[in-house]
Amino acid sequence: METGKFITLEGGEGAGKTTQATRIKSVLEEAGIEVVITREPGGTFGAEAIRGLVLGGSHERWSGLTELLLMYAARLDHVEKLIKPALARGVWVLCDRFSDSSMAYQGYARGLGPEQVAAIDDVVMQGFKPDLTILFNIDPILAQRRVKTRGEDLSRFDTEDLEFHKVLQAAFLDIAKHNPKRFRIVDATLSRDAIETQIKHILMKHFSGLHLG
Ligand code: TYD
Repeated sequence: METGKFITLEGGEGAGKTTQATRIKSVLEEAGIEVVITREPGGTFGAEAIRGLVLGGSHERWSGLTELLLMYAARLDHVEKLIKPALARGVWVLCDRFSDSSMAYQGYARGLGPEQVAAIDDVVMQGFKPDLTILFNIDPILAQRRVKTRGEDLSRFDTEDLEFHKVLQAAFLDIAKHNPKRFRIVDATLSRDAIETQIKHILMKHFSGLHLG
């Protein structure tokens, strides 16, 4: 049996990744593909427990490096117990954030530096990468307004200031530029329908033989 494809969704807060994950899942399922949606940090019992640790509490709770190690501890559990077994069964995995978030948030925005994050990634992931990463690009001012109007619980990360989010957006764009084969960028200021259409085209171009209605 053919293995499944691993697709990650990346971007700053308020970019609409979660809504699109559900939409992409339906579109792929209509094409007869089995899909699982998951997220990081989290996705497995153990990784969700780590998520509670890393996203809860005050801003100063963890140093940047501790935060990075917690993210990778959660990620390894997630990859070993959920992602790789699903792919091996031929299931496609849609993941809301993955390693590129560690690079953008801990590596760039929190200032650990890209080399340190890449080194940990090499040791823990051993070259395991998504088949495709869709970057939801949005102006941070617009994104912040969206997060606020959603009225959700503000996690430790959502309370970061605008400058942080600007660094983050630049970081994601830089990571995308350095990984042009794996990354596709969508304009997250467009309507939900327009974004869905963009993503469908991206998927059909990236995965030959895939036809979506
Ligand atoms: P979440 O509420 O899922 O945010 P979003 O809806 O924007 O995806 O919270 C996840 C937070 O964790 C988000 O602020 C990004 C952050 N994060 C990191 O800092 N490093 C990582 O490696 C990952 C996966 C997430």
